[in-house]
Amino acid sequence: MADPSDDYEIAGELYSAEEIRLKVEELAKRINEDYADRAPLLLIGILKGAFIFLADLARLIEVPVQFDFMALSSYGSATKTSGVVRIRKDLDVEISGRHVLIVEDIIDTGLTLSYLQRNLFARGAASVEICALLNKRAANKVDVPIKYEGFSIPDDFVVGYGLDYAERYRNLPYIATLKK
Ligand code: IMP
Repeated sequence: MADPSDDYEIAGELYSAEEIRLKVEELAKRINEDYADRAPLLLIGILKGAFIFLADLARLIEVPVQFDFMALSSYGSATKTSGVVRIRKDLDVEISGRHVLIVEDIIDTGLTLSYLQRNLFARGAASVEICALLNKRAANKVDVPIKYEGFSIPDDFVVGYGLDYAERYRNLPYIATLKK
């Protein structure tokens, strides 16, 4: 079977494992301060891309914390989202009255998270904030309030540290750009 990822290879490293580690530490420190009196915090990891970021971030969080996961798909091509979001895996827990922090790998158009934030508010969450490791600000089509942003990056397709192209490269310990 033809694999679309065969046409691409790693172009170069954008952020090293060490740069990512320092950034994740910074984000965790702010989260620990902000949620000291709002525990237990519910971390919602967005599958699949956020799994590595969430695992690293969570191990630096010192306030009482619980976990749940969602999987969303947006209709569109492999590299562009359309804004129409489908919930493929929903939460297992009720979030009414809970303080929720969505943990996402990357914001591109922002349409997925804009939809999700509204959806979680509508379920009665006490607060819904967003923590995203990467944000392609120039590609944002909607204004998504990202409380905890790791790196602002150019509008290039990136892989590694959980992010894939056609399901490849998620296990790279660094973040890289791709070339044809
Ligand atoms: P948005 O709704 O356009 O913000 O789409 C965000 C989702 O698109 C992310 O959760 C990723 O799954 C995917 N995505 C966007 N840009 C990239 C990229 O550069 N590499 C890998 N996945 C990406």
